[in-house]
Amino acid sequence: MAKKIETLLATMGRDGAKLNRVVNTPVYHASTVMFDSYADMRDGVKNLDDKPFYGRMGTPTTRDLEDAVCELEGGAVTRLFPSGMAAVTVSLLSVLKAGDHLLMSDSVYEPSKIIAKSLLKRFGVETTYFDPLAGADIAAQFKDNTKAVFLETPGSLTFEVQDIPAISKVAHERGAYVIADCTWGASYFMKGLELGADLSVQAGTKYYVGHSDVMMGCITANERTAAKLKRCRMDLGQTVAPDDAYLTLRGMRTLGIRLEQHQKNALTVANWLEKHPMVDRVLYPPLENCPGHDIFMRDFTGASGLLSFVLKNGAYADLGALADDMELFKMGFSWGGFESLICPSDPTGFRHITPWQANGPLIRLHIGLEHTDDLIEDLDRGFSRYKKVS
Ligand SMILES: Cc1ncc(COP(=O)(O)O)c(C=O)c1O
Repeated sequence: MAKKIETLLATMGRDGAKLNRVVNTPVYHASTVMFDSYADMRDGVKNLDDKPFYGRMGTPTTRDLEDAVCELEGGAVTRLFPSGMAAVTVSLLSVLKAGDHLLMSDSVYEPSKIIAKSLLKRFGVETTYFDPLAGADIAAQFKDNTKAVFLETPGSLTFEVQDIPAISKVAHERGAYVIADCTWGASYFMKGLELGADLSVQAGTKYYVGHSDVMMGCITANERTAAKLKRCRMDLGQTVAPDDAYLTLRGMRTLGIRLEQHQKNALTVANWLEKHPMVDRVLYPPLENCPGHDIFMRDFTGASGLLSFVLKNGAYADLGALADDMELFKMGFSWGGFESLICPSDPTGFRHITPWQANGPLIRLHIGLEHTDDLIEDLDRGFSRYKKVS
């Protein structure tokens, strides 16, 4: 039966539960897996994909989470990593080798750029950056040795929505792979593989977990990249703790209803911010003036709760007046949990080919599940405090 996404979220990844007639797959703490016979043991090594034979390859708990993510993403295989960053790194290492060239979007999460500048450079991979709003014109930046394009859509600080279908078409015609960090859409509002990417990366830490208490990373591969992903993950010995896998899968059961509410709340706050006299612009893909809005309308079914706004003027040094005394918007670098967060952040230093232009500071907000009346009141008070110093 072709399941609707709400049904899928409730039913996916429950094979391990069947063993014990409970609803949720239990937490299996295991390193050693025991065999009944020598024949079984030899079989185990041969059929690794069906039946993990050692804890590092997986347990019923981690395999159920992998199966759930894979079904949600519509991929060939999913593997788990101890953080979103580990997933980003392994996605790159899976398809690149010394002498290759990587194209990376200029709007990606800064630590993803640092991998390119440090680790990949050290291992002989050259990186150049492309305009996050590039479509088919990205072709001009391909070299003979371009083997991968890494993008993040939308950029999680400046929110440019990227044209995965156009970029993938160009990349595939040239034999290159497309890696998409799709954390913002959380495989609920957008699925990177369906749009043409070969590897879809999720910082599960954010919306999958949803409760700000677990680090988790996932990569889902299509048929073209499945073997490469499995090999690289195995070689690097990447594995996750069963308690973390359990909590992530538990969080995913409510992914849909949480995201629908994050979207509702974020739209209310974004519309309020747009009208505020101290705000120059709001960067949130459902808003018409957000870069890549038309692509968002074509490729996404909705928007999550992360957005940024730019103040008309002022200085980052004064933002303590706004942020320090917030009651609900606590300061933190993460997002995707049930709670609202505020994070002033200056993109200037890490843009390579598309310089960041703004007269005032940028502030990123994660809009949580609190009532929007309270969130808006909290922000309004912050703006009043800031007005006195700016
Ligand atoms: C878009 C994006 N990708 C990847 C990551 C890395 O995830 P993690 O913090 O789980 O390592 C983050 C973290 O903030 C992120 O925002």
